[in-house]
Amino acid sequence: MVQTLIGPFTQILTLADIPLKGAIADDQLHIIKQGGVLTNGERIVEVGNFEDLRKTYPKAEVEAITNDLVLLPGFVDCHTHLCFAGTRANDYALRIAGKSYLEIAKAGGGIWDSVTQTRQASETKLAELIVQRANQHLKEGVTTIEIKSGYGLNVEQELKQLRAIKKAGETSSADLLATCLGAHIVPHDFGGTAEVYLEYLLSYVLPKIQAEKLAARVDIFIEVSAFNPTEGANYLRAARQLGFDLVVHADQFTTGGSAIAVELGALSADHLEASTEIEIKLLAASDTVAVALPGASLGLGIGFSPARKLLDAGACLAIASDWNPGSAPMGDLLMQAAILSAYEKLSSAETFAGLSYRAAKALNLNDRGTIEPGKIADMQAYPCADYREILYHQGKLKPVKVWKRGRA
Ligand code: NIG
Ligand code: FE
Repeated sequence: MVQTLIGPFTQILTLADIPLKGAIADDQLHIIKQGGVLTNGERIVEVGNFEDLRKTYPKAEVEAITNDLVLLPGFVDCHTHLCFAGTRANDYALRIAGKSYLEIAKAGGGIWDSVTQTRQASETKLAELIVQRANQHLKEGVTTIEIKSGYGLNVEQELKQLRAIKKAGETSSADLLATCLGAHIVPHDFGGTAEVYLEYLLSYVLPKIQAEKLAARVDIFIEVSAFNPTEGANYLRAARQLGFDLVVHADQFTTGGSAIAVELGALSADHLEASTEIEIKLLAASDTVAVALPGASLGLGIGFSPARKLLDAGACLAIASDWNPGSAPMGDLLMQAAILSAYEKLSSAETFAGLSYRAAKALNLNDRGTIEPGKIADMQAYPCADYREILYHQGKLKPVKVWKRGRA
């Protein structure tokens, strides 16, 4: 197996050996100066001083770095809805004109509008759109992307979305991980209660998803406008019984979701804009990752999730883009995280941890998110000599080089 030594990097932030949960100061970061990374193709073999590695591995091919670059692990975006067709620019125009969520839904907007537009797109067209968006993400250093269904909302259309995600994953170099969000809202054309709709998902949709191995994760939107906590808990319990990992859209406008997520041992509780001290304590005491979605706060013009309080209480905080046509159309994960960091006073260490190994934890992946031996060689290099430049530029400084499974 050919070994490649990449470097020297002015700084390597390995993100290794720092805690999974709680606050992190920048001086806890493990920074290697004039660093090198030895890979065997897909995996990292060793990380250390470049000259030392060159002496120890004289036969390794050298991929020379000739200017100041700071190396970080590839980002993991653990919450997106980027399998969609169409636009909701009309919703946005109404929102900035002062209309409420309910008024917009009544005027034909909201999630149902994206369901209508996405249902009209073919599986092939959807796969193309996903690849375009995933490639944009990859260029910006995001090497692993979770993608939800949830704009299909019946058996054929949910399967179409998940098949499109699978197809896109075969083309895109980024790793794509699918989640079934059939429980996004009760579809307007269903003609039954929320309870009956969830029953339909459990009986007719989830078993087909399993048979085709399209997704191993189930998400639900627990919210006044979607499903109540009791419906959510019953659905999640049954999905877990079928063998699915659980995630929850929780506490976006009203509380209730995160307590269910913690009680049922969900991998993550995402949104949390409305979480209070009670929910913060529950999350901090649990193994459920708290996922902040600053892109949704920016898209809706509402406050951010209490990221600082969550970290200080001891929670594992990840940051994801929520890339979707309705509440978070921007899709620039680093810019959103940098803005969250400025408002919530997150250190570089906390922000980068939230974008890397802590986000990987939300996906139950322990093979990525840090730069250390044995991990997948997903890495990205920024054109600067000091890692603090990255958040300082608030997302405008982009990686000049990205490696996915060792390939530049
Ligand atoms: O995460 N909150 C629910 N779902 C998405 C929004 C989807 C949409 O508006 O189309 C979210 O923000
Ligand atoms: Fe979402």
